[in-house]
Amino acid sequence: MAPLLLLSLLLLLSSTSLQAQQNITLGSSLTPEGPSSFWLSPSGDFAFGFRPIEGNTSSYLLAVWFDKTSDKTVVWYAKTNDPDPVLVHVSSGSQLLLNSNGALSLQDPTGTEVWNPRVVGAVYAAMLNTGNFVLAAADGSTKWGTFNNPADTILPTQVLTPGMKLRSRIIPTDYSNGRFLLDLQSIGVFLYTVAVPSGKMYDYYWSMAGNTTKLVFNATGMVYITLDNGTQISVTSGVTGSMLDYYHRATLDPDGVFRQYRCPKKVSNLSSQAWSVVDFKPPNICDAQLTNDGSGICGFNSYCTFNGRNNQSICLCPEQYSFIDEERKYKGCKPDFQPQSCDLDEAAASMQFKLIPMNSVDWPLADYEEYSPITKDQCQQLCLTDCFCAVAVFHDQDNTCWKKKMPLSNGKMGDNVERTLFVKVRKNNSTQAELVGSNKWKEDKKNWILGSSLFLGSSVLVNILLTSVILFGTYCTITVKEIPSLQSSNNIGLPLKAFAYAELEKATSGFQEVLGTGASGIVYKGQLQDDLGTYIAVKKIDKLEHETEKEFTVEVQTIGRTHHKNLVRLLGFCNEGKERLLVYEFMTNGSLNQFLFGDVRLEWNLRAQLALGVARGLLYLHEECSTQIIHCDIKPQNILLDGNFTAKISDFGLAKLLRTNQTQTNTGIRGTRGYVAPEWFKSIGITAKVDVYSFGVILLELICCRRNVELEAEEDQKILTDWANDCYRCGRVDFLVEGDDEAILNLMKVERFVAVALWCLQEDPTMRPTMLKVTQMLDEAAAVPTVPTPPDPSSFVSSLP
Ligand SMILES: *[C@@H]1O[C@H](CO)[C@@H](O)[C@H](O)[C@H]1NC(C)=O
Ligand SMILES: *[C@@H]1O[C@H](CO)[C@@H](O)[C@H](O)[C@H]1NC(C)=O
Ligand SMILES: *[C@@H]1O[C@H](CO)[C@@H](O)[C@H](O)[C@H]1NC(C)=O
Ligand SMILES: *[C@@H]1O[C@H](CO)[C@@H](O)[C@H](O)[C@H]1NC(C)=O
Ligand SMILES: *[C@@H]1O[C@H](CO)[C@@H](O)[C@H](O)[C@H]1NC(C)=O
Ligand SMILES: *[C@@H]1O[C@H](CO)[C@@H](O)[C@H](O)[C@H]1NC(C)=O
Ligand SMILES: *[C@@H]1O[C@H](CO)[C@@H](O)[C@H](O)[C@H]1NC(C)=O
Ligand SMILES: *[C@@H]1O[C@H](CO)[C@@H](O)[C@H](O)[C@H]1NC(C)=O
Ligand SMILES: *[C@@H]1O[C@H](CO)[C@@H](O)[C@H](O)[C@H]1NC(C)=O
Ligand SMILES: *[C@@H]1O[C@H](CO)[C@@H](O)[C@H](O)[C@H]1NC(C)=O
Ligand SMILES: *[C@@H]1O[C@H](CO)[C@@H](O)[C@H](O)[C@H]1NC(C)=O
Ligand SMILES: *[C@@H]1O[C@H](CO)[C@@H](O)[C@H](O)[C@H]1NC(C)=O
Repeated sequence: MAPLLLLSLLLLLSSTSLQAQQNITLGSSLTPEGPSSFWLSPSGDFAFGFRPIEGNTSSYLLAVWFDKTSDKTVVWYAKTNDPDPVLVHVSSGSQLLLNSNGALSLQDPTGTEVWNPRVVGAVYAAMLNTGNFVLAAADGSTKWGTFNNPADTILPTQVLTPGMKLRSRIIPTDYSNGRFLLDLQSIGVFLYTVAVPSGKMYDYYWSMAGNTTKLVFNATGMVYITLDNGTQISVTSGVTGSMLDYYHRATLDPDGVFRQYRCPKKVSNLSSQAWSVVDFKPPNICDAQLTNDGSGICGFNSYCTFNGRNNQSICLCPEQYSFIDEERKYKGCKPDFQPQSCDLDEAAASMQFKLIPMNSVDWPLADYEEYSPITKDQCQQLCLTDCFCAVAVFHDQDNTCWKKKMPLSNGKMGDNVERTLFVKVRKNNSTQAELVGSNKWKEDKKNWILGSSLFLGSSVLVNILLTSVILFGTYCTITVKEIPSLQSSNNIGLPLKAFAYAELEKATSGFQEVLGTGASGIVYKGQLQDDLGTYIAVKKIDKLEHETEKEFTVEVQTIGRTHHKNLVRLLGFCNEGKERLLVYEFMTNGSLNQFLFGDVRLEWNLRAQLALGVARGLLYLHEECSTQIIHCDIKPQNILLDGNFTAKISDFGLAKLLRTNQTQTNTGIRGTRGYVAPEWFKSIGITAKVDVYSFGVILLELICCRRNVELEAEEDQKILTDWANDCYRCGRVDFLVEGDDEAILNLMKVERFVAVALWCLQEDPTMRPTMLKVTQMLDEAAAVPTVPTPPDPSSFVSSLP
């Protein structure tokens, strides 16, 4: 039984091959829907005819394909004739006819001819075993053949002569004209980028020169050019394998690479049959020659990267750019953000935009300006503030800076790209990308922030000195407000006591126990000889100058009139000869500083209560006491704690007393690094909002139990205000209180506090809330149900003097 079965199988096979037409006679025709839609070669390896296009049931190609490979690989498709060949779309109902005149004619359903190969007088047609479909003359010579009119592929025995071209498809599934052209000229073989759709040739990106007579894909699978003196130069040089065992083809692929492939003819499992690359040119297309016109190998604004492990190149978009068309990446990348308006002033530009470093990437031909010598920071700043600049490149070796404009072309990534490049992106959309981005990226970004703040600092130093001389003392002091309110009368506390120097000397046992050292002087612990044995803190002001006794007394009296639960009470003063001392109530538990950044973590509820206390103290200074007092130096060291752990602000009202020695501080800024508001660096007025900013920093420190600036922290966490903003924008404030179970349980409140802090940290002082608003937002009991989402503060560059 089995031999019989085998025999019938063999018969069936041979009858199939008999069906393959040797000669296609005049009058034969094909139609896409059959009965006859293609003609096979005698071997059955190749077919010529209609072939459905993937994903479009009503559209066909007129094509030649490998009929026995699993994917029925297309090797030729009909295009219109010169000068501008374009793909012939065949609709259903069309007909291909080899007519009695010996002409081939493709007609649409209405009978109108849409394509013909411009030959008449053929005697027959044939689909040859080589893959060449020919119209033959009576003597058997070829009048027209697909080998002489190639599309994107050549086959063994096919020969190209000067003037013949291969054009890549646009993408593997769309046979329309693509972006690359192989052009055989009498001076060599060239690969060109071409304009889509016009096909205008730009520059070549690969070539093999020589007085060329032909390009040959010979019968044993070698691809070479032959020079006029007979020398052969290999184009591809792989091990090809036997023609009996493998199919071969060489294709100019949609990515611009000319690849020679082979595919095993016989496989046990058809679905495992696949084309493998034998060799390809150019060796690394990302390193190919630059093209002056057009986008280069990849689309505009994208860059090429070559993977040596699979010899494939891919095109990628920079951070915060994405492909205009994910399926057709050659269309290039577009920014995901609103580009920079040219109306922005410098400050606004650096507030809204930033530069992200990219290593080993370059767009070599997009330069429009060059500076040298220049520092990296200056380079970045120049790009940031220039609306034309999309990318800045800085070269360390020669301190040269280039600005690049859009669209960026010839982008590539490679080990041989040494320079660091910075891509300009909009700031407020960066957070998500940052958190998922690589660590390298974050580090660079942070360095840039630190670097640029130094740059900013130095360039505006002169301004600071000038403005601070004017502003200092004028603003950070006690402004007498005529508040005809009840409060002023309520607030009149005990009269200040004028101490004798000797008395204080005794109380402090000769100024022995130092409680702290501040900008204004040293603070000593003491005990009065009164009935209660009241403990006191005595501040010896040593930086005082040009201040008459009378002026001192006036200032001190003003401070003495303040009275609030959250302010350290001034009990008295000493004003004797050259000595100026202030006597305060003693705070048992010292400063917030030591509790916040020490080993013991205060409980979340206590921290929240402290925050509210500080806010209320500031509210009183700003709005509720008879004279407005701007503190100007709010920081944890100035927040003291009494025995009940009530927060009390100290050192307020001292600004004017300490006005005198400008040159002793580096910048003339009253305030402490990490807590000062950005307007100190600008020529705008200083208002109570500087305290609101500092409070925002302290609030974050209270939430997270860490300092604003911690250079040992992880890259993205070095600057707390920045990190908190990132976390808040990603909805992950839990990161900020990691390990703090109590806070984790109160995550809603934590988020509310973070939002308030971010409001306080707004770059624009007018955007910051008043302390009244702050206390209302912090206090759950107050009538503010939800805290609105704060805008991205965008002020972190200038928050670090
Ligand atoms: C094909 O047709 C030509 C011309 O009529 C003839 O010479 C040739 O023998 C034919 N070939 C086959 C295989 O039938
Ligand atoms: C299918 O092909 C026809 C003719 O080429 C074209 O007009 C149509 O847009 C195509 N449809 C799809 C879905 O690609
Ligand atoms: C190529 O041909 C030209 C003239 O046909 C000749 O001048 C030139 O020397 C040739 N170049 C080479 C490399 O043979
Ligand atoms: C094809 O070219 C290679 C290299 O030039 C040569 O060794 C081989 O003999 C050629 N094969 C045929 C069939 O001409
Ligand atoms: C043919 O020309 C090429 C380049 O001009 C040269 O390198 C080669 O030696 C020549 N071969 C012969 C056989 O003259
Ligand atoms: C054929 O190969 C495919 C993929 O290589 C595999 O998924 C499938 O199971 C194989 N079929 C058989 C019958 O081996
Ligand atoms: C990549 O190409 C090189 C030659 O350019 C070849 O040696 C290597 O085997 C290829 N790798 C793969 C995975 O095809
Ligand atoms: C923000 O960035 C994300 C990815 O980082 C992107 O998907 C989104 O479109 C961007 N939005 C805007 C408004 O730029
Ligand atoms: C980001 O910036 C754009 C344009 O300036 C603005 O419309 C948008 O509201 C901002 N988004 C956030 C979350 O700040
Ligand atoms: C003020 O600063 C100058 C220069 O640093 C210094 O010589 C002078 O002693 C300072 N005056 C006071 C009161 O500290
Ligand atoms: C703590 O507060 C209570 C009531 O407010 C007060 O009586 C007590 O004196 C305070 N203790 C200290 C050490 O301040
Ligand atoms: C805070 O002060 C109170 C009262 O003097 C004292 O009992 C307590 O131990 C202090 N707490 C700390 C942590 O020093």
